[in-house]
Amino acid sequence: SAMKHSYTYDDYKETANWLLTRIERHPTVAIICGSGLGGLADLLEKKKTFPYEEIPNFPRSTVQGHAGQLVFGELNGKQCICMKGRFHFYEGYSVTQLTFPVRVFCLLGVETLIVTNAAGGLNPEFHVGDIMVIKDHINMLGFAGQNPLCGPNDERFGVRFPSMSDAYDRDLWRLAQDAAREQGSSAFLQQGVYCVLAGPCFETVAECRLLQKLGADAVGMSTVPEVLVARHCGLRVLGLSLITNMAVMDYCSTKCANHEEVLETTHMRTQDLQKLVSSLIVKLMEP
Ligand code: 6GU
Repeated sequence: SAMKHSYTYDDYKETANWLLTRIERHPTVAIICGSGLGGLADLLEKKKTFPYEEIPNFPRSTVQGHAGQLVFGELNGKQCICMKGRFHFYEGYSVTQLTFPVRVFCLLGVETLIVTNAAGGLNPEFHVGDIMVIKDHINMLGFAGQNPLCGPNDERFGVRFPSMSDAYDRDLWRLAQDAAREQGSSAFLQQGVYCVLAGPCFETVAECRLLQKLGADAVGMSTVPEVLVARHCGLRVLGLSLITNMAVMDYCSTKCANHEEVLETTHMRTQDLQKLVSSLIVKLMEP
């Protein structure tokens, strides 16, 4: 079927209203869970779960076996939505489709978006298993003409030319650092620049060297389109990358980036990441 490249305001509104009639309390935080990080959704209490295919206008999941779900509930007393399973550009979704949920979150009254992902480490000081607070990004998808804010601008969401120099909320990075310190995981907390590529191929050696020279600390295949749409409509954003593998930087290396290593590291660190996000959310409530 043809890729969808635009929605009307009423499409977003219809979805938001459909959800609002089915939940009791309004969420203020939304969390987009990266590959293998959906366990966060299980931490919620008083859960209400909606499979993506039941939600009007929601993109359908293409990956079999991994049905996507929107999970509403409470995390440490805070009303949250978790997206268990995100949409990726490499699956064949347009950037408009894969950011559809973010505008719905905005209409539901969400103020803060937390995005997590798995990424390859480019910074030689990083280690497999580190968690990187995203302080900035390089939008290679945007450079290639794939920006979800292209097309007519709807002023009800935001301005025509949004700034992105402040895309990642500084107070939220600080909260993440405080939370990590308190739970004794600062040893593997890093910060840096996330670079998005379309995927699904992992990078060549020459591409990794290029991205490193450009100032990227980690590379992945998600997150940035959602952040653009979130900032456009005024959400505060925190991004966390789990460094699941180190990008291959030399021709002597016998290692190759592979999905199994990504999943293994995710499995190893998923608890720590969940703990970090959940104690962060407590801090969001503190004045
Ligand atoms: Cl090495 N590259 C990309 N593009 N995405 C990744 C990755 C690498 N590792 C995890 N996700």
